Amino acid sequence: MGVILEVKNLTKKFGGLTAVNDFSFEIERGEFIGLIGPNGAGKTTVFNLISGFERPSSGSIRFDGINITSMSPYKIVNLGIARTFQLVRSFKFLTILDNVSVSCLSPRGKEVSKDIGTEEYASSILTAVGLVDKARIPPIVLPHGDLRKLQIGKAIGTNPQLLLLDEPFSGLSYEEQLIITDLIKKLHDDGVTIFITGHVLRELMTLVPRVLAMHQGKLIADGPPREVASHKIVLEAYLGRGEGFA
Ligand SMILES: Nc1ncnc2c1ncn2[C@@H]1O[C@H](COP(=O)(O)OP(=O)(O)O)[C@@H](O)[C@H]1O
Ligand SMILES: [Mg+2]
Repeated sequence: MGVILEVKNLTKKFGGLTAVNDFSFEIERGEFIGLIGPNGAGKTTVFNLISGFERPSSGSIRFDGINITSMSPYKIVNLGIARTFQLVRSFKFLTILDNVSVSCLSPRGKEVSKDIGTEEYASSILTAVGLVDKARIPPIVLPHGDLRKLQIGKAIGTNPQLLLLDEPFSGLSYEEQLIITDLIKKLHDDGVTIFITGHVLRELMTLVPRVLAMHQGKLIADGPPREVASHKIVLEAYLGRGEGFA
């Protein structure tokens, strides 16, 4: 299968704070991998660096053999990396269908939609994420769970090879979490490499076969969730901040 993402000695400083500190890992094509760590560990910053929303202070990122370090976000999307945000973002004044259509108009989105047309393709994505009944309304009126589905729909529209999901379960009810979980599993079954963050290990425990744990910007463990959860440094990182795994 081969390596799809290679992150080497990645460091990001904000003034005196090192949010990501000499962070290195590789992801194989087709993997389903988690990134856990307490709030403030640096997870979102890692995603911002991979997706081009922040530039690293040092270190390198290669995607599919291409050096994407400090590349602009749109170029990175066009190579096949999509991401969702912890805080949900959408085009407020477009319909839900148009929100997804915008993504389908990206170069990789066009590759898949050219035969059936943008709107038809966007509609099929809305069916997949369970929003097709709400295609013609603006996202402003959507409940939180639906906004997360829309975010994932927008990411799918760009036809990604690698999907970065930043805390896709936060603020969702258990039932909504199950729906999103099914959706993510289907994407993975379709061949998309999934990299997903969470600050509660339990949420990712049964989902991913491999998890990276980070604390204060550093990689502290890498392996199967059960092994990582019993790791002494991981326990200390969580318990030290009064956050358990439960
Ligand atoms: N743009 C920024 N400017 C200054 N500090 C930041 C910025 N973004 C993140 N940080 C800091 O970097 C650290 C890691 O944040 P973040 O990556 O959001 O962690 P996580 O997603 O694991 O909760 C935190 O201390 C946060 O306050
Ligand atoms: Mg975060």
